[in-house]
Amino acid sequence: MSKKKEKILIVDDEEYIIEGLTTILENENYQVDAATDGAQAIKKLEKDQIDLVLADLVMPKLDGLQLLHELQSRDIFTEVIIITGQGTIDSAVKAMKAGVYDYLTKPIETERLLSIIPKALEHHRLVMSNRKLKQIVRNLTRYEEIIGQSSQMREIYRMIDAVADSTANVIITGESGTGKELVARAIHNKSGRASGPFIAINCAAFPKEILENELFGHESGAFTGALKEKAGCFELAHKGTLFLDELGEMSLETQTKILRVLEERRFRRLGGKKEISVDVRIISATNRKIRQAIEEKTLREDLYYRLCVIEIELPPLHERLGDVPLLSLEFLKNFNEKNNKKIKGISPKCMDIFNSYTWPGNVRELKNVIERAVILSRGDTLEIEDLPPRIVNTDKKTGYVNFQLGSTIEVCERDFILRTLEYTNNNKTHAAKILGISLKTLHNKLNQYQVK
Ligand SMILES: Nc1ncnc2c1ncn2[C@@H]1O[C@H](COP(=O)(O)OP(=O)(O)OP(=O)(O)O)[C@@H](O)[C@H]1O
Ligand SMILES: [Mg+2]
Repeated sequence: MSKKKEKILIVDDEEYIIEGLTTILENENYQVDAATDGAQAIKKLEKDQIDLVLADLVMPKLDGLQLLHELQSRDIFTEVIIITGQGTIDSAVKAMKAGVYDYLTKPIETERLLSIIPKALEHHRLVMSNRKLKQIVRNLTRYEEIIGQSSQMREIYRMIDAVADSTANVIITGESGTGKELVARAIHNKSGRASGPFIAINCAAFPKEILENELFGHESGAFTGALKEKAGCFELAHKGTLFLDELGEMSLETQTKILRVLEERRFRRLGGKKEISVDVRIISATNRKIRQAIEEKTLREDLYYRLCVIEIELPPLHERLGDVPLLSLEFLKNFNEKNNKKIKGISPKCMDIFNSYTWPGNVRELKNVIERAVILSRGDTLEIEDLPPRIVNTDKKTGYVNFQLGSTIEVCERDFILRTLEYTNNNKTHAAKILGISLKTLHNKLNQYQVK
């Protein structure tokens, strides 16, 4: 039977001990290596996967106990047995408390040596398989900053893995708050461009001219007020990733300009003559249905084909309610830390509400709800009282807004918009839908009222 030999590293400053132990252990069919001090041992342990270390307690440079601490701080997992002289048994006992498997006293008795080694190795196998299991479970529940273990999210992780290392442009679609930006960042971080910049720009946040200025930059004197030259996002994202958020809100002219950059990989700053070459991967996102945007001619079809070699569609939270407990507990942990609180859990009644609510604002809404609850909570569990009423009373189509007679239309409009935003928990897409205006109009109006 050919079984993979287990590897043992002997660390001792005395040559004759190394030789003696090597002979004994090789006879038992272990694979043996040796180091004459702790520092040398660390090097070997970092390079190789070693199952067991037999280390002298007293050595120059790095002694046995220090060696153990080094291993622990470097997250190197191996079993350690300490060899100690009669005079240092106290220290050996200390070492066992620090995590050493066992100790042997000099002179080493072969019989005892050969009886504890298999036990130590068995222990090592157990710990390793536990660690692997934990790793697998962890991998299934999150990916970079993205949390979720539903089959839909695991499929998303698989897609991120698949696209990260290609140069393909990716488009991410999904309702507001489903994590499009998180996915964009995860793709960047997993890609060969990870050490390059990740530049994000929200295309809906600017009027056309300002957006183009942000994207392409300008030379000084390009227009009144352009005192200094400015590099745009395309330049800033060179050798990295440019994230075009809310792509669908961009004017057709700007779309044409972007298409040209994508085709030629070169462009000019506003008011500039020099052509600038860039190497940029584009990830874009939109919370609109793409097909519809193309049919309505708000998104150029040719641009879409350029940008969308691959589409990743994020499911709304209510289609993967299985992720809600995991997300809630993770957010609870984070907001506990942030607010210096020690809330231990979420009451079952609360969780029931979470599990049946529709979450129009998706994960962002859940996150906000937990943050609010953590701040308000006075107990050690989140209770229904800590939740906003709109979540608890789901039958809530009955909000009213009062206007003071004598107000201008502008004031009424402003209040109405702000109240609608409150009602949608700051979900602008949802609010725009309710108000029957485009997201862009909503942004313009908010800019006009100078509210964030
Ligand atoms: N799967 C997730 N795990 C952890 N946090 C998430 C997840 N999805 C979203 N979030 C959090 O929710 C918030 C909204 O996420 P993000 O900005 O990525 O959404 P979005 O889809 O880009 O929304 P919008 O269309 O409104 O821009 C962020 O705070 C993000 O950290
Ligand atoms: Mg976003």
